[in-house]
Amino acid sequence: MGTRLKLLIASANRGKVSEYRALLEGVDCDLVSIEDVGISGDLDESGSTYEENARFKAVTCAARLGLVTLADDSGLEVEALGGEPGVHSARYAGEHATDAQRISYLLKKLDGVPPERRGARFVCVIAIATPEGDVTCCRGECAGCIASEPRGDRGFGYDPVFLLPELGLTMAELPPEVKNRLSHRGKAGAVAREVLKQFIDGGRSR
Ligand code: IMP
Repeated sequence: MGTRLKLLIASANRGKVSEYRALLEGVDCDLVSIEDVGISGDLDESGSTYEENARFKAVTCAARLGLVTLADDSGLEVEALGGEPGVHSARYAGEHATDAQRISYLLKKLDGVPPERRGARFVCVIAIATPEGDVTCCRGECAGCIASEPRGDRGFGYDPVFLLPELGLTMAELPPEVKNRLSHRGKAGAVAREVLKQFIDGGRSR
């Protein structure tokens, strides 16, 4: 029997790391964050697609630290804005803006846009890379629309204005386990769970 798999979650976003802890519960591995391994600051995300960014982060961290690594890239795509902010979601209102500033910037851009034209989706691509450079990607999407004002204090990022019309609630009003079931990250994470289980069952634990 090999040793237990140590899986690095390559994200400095604490909201995301805690969602991955929940999403990967029951997978037979020990999760470490980049803070645990002493890397600080954001990882480079200068690619033009979610997949490119997720792959780059996973492959570079896996090679640098010698650990199987999960990285993701995600974003919000708003129909009335031609898919913006997309891969630029984290820096939409400037490099050092807060979540609240990003939300108010988005709401200003959508000023006067009626509810039926406020459709949006969250997208998440997860890449899992080995130190040898093997990579698997999983994608998840969640459809909704942009509310006229923020509601709720859970989650992170654009959650307070991302409305799930069938529930009449924003992502920030959902208990974490419900968000994890419905969200883009939850859907990509469900596929990632299976990839990791096969990886572990395949005896590649290190
Ligand atoms: P990145 O994946 O770290 O590049 O971050 C993408 C950005 O998209 C985040 O900083 C958030 O602003 C936004 N985002 C991604 N996933 C979520 C989510 O689950 N809820 C709210 N905002 C999100």
